Amino acid sequence: MDIPSVLSAYRRQAPIYDAVFGTLLGPGRAATVELANRLTGRKVLEVGVGTGLSLPRYRSDIRVTGIDISPDMLDIARRRVADKKIPNVDALYEMDAEALDFGDGSFDTVIAMYVASVVPHPDKLVAEMQRVCRPDGDILVVNHFAGTGGIRGNFERGIAPLSKKLGWRPDFEMEPFLRSGTMTVIDKRNAPPFGLFTILHCRNTRPMAQAAE
Ligand SMILES: C[S@@+](CC[C@H](N)C(=O)[O-])C[C@H]1O[C@@H](n2cnc3c(N)ncnc32)[C@H](O)[C@@H]1O
Repeated sequence: MDIPSVLSAYRRQAPIYDAVFGTLLGPGRAATVELANRLTGRKVLEVGVGTGLSLPRYRSDIRVTGIDISPDMLDIARRRVADKKIPNVDALYEMDAEALDFGDGSFDTVIAMYVASVVPHPDKLVAEMQRVCRPDGDILVVNHFAGTGGIRGNFERGIAPLSKKLGWRPDFEMEPFLRSGTMTVIDKRNAPPFGLFTILHCRNTRPMAQAAE
């Protein structure tokens, strides 16, 4: 994946995104926001917020900032916030998740839903999520991770050359993704449909800057 491919994939998908992926990715999205709502942290950053399908679900005392690289997806998110009069969304910015324009430790909770296998450099995504999350804050990720073998693994590897058209990498693996950061996984669970998605709850135990010292 590269930024021009992401922009063109989500320019194409934006008008149909809610109809297609609202339901398909809905259970993992709802479960991830529910998890965020159970945490004490009130300052949330959602990277790759897309069309903002998650935004009406946050607890009303949580302040949410969303960022996305696709202006087409963000237009829909902004309309949703205005139409539904969602009061606790502080801002929606056009921004690269791999180079966030926020200070270190700015948020209690940083969330990426179905984004990790889309960004060009997932290791930079992890580094930035850890940097802007406060030490010991929470990092929540829901994503599809590639199966290790069998029919599913073969299928995912088979369609991997279509990544740029699909707008995500079907052969994206969990272990290298986690190894690229220094956060600690405290819970891992499957999400529907068919357990195809995984929700990772991580603690920002050793923010990257500290880990390097
Ligand atoms: C599959 S969609 C997920 C959208 C939303 N999180 C959801 O739950 O429906 C992936 C989103 O990641 C965004 N994205 C991809 N690369 C990005 C980057 N480098 N920085 C910010 N957003 C990015 C895309 O524009 C798209 O809106």
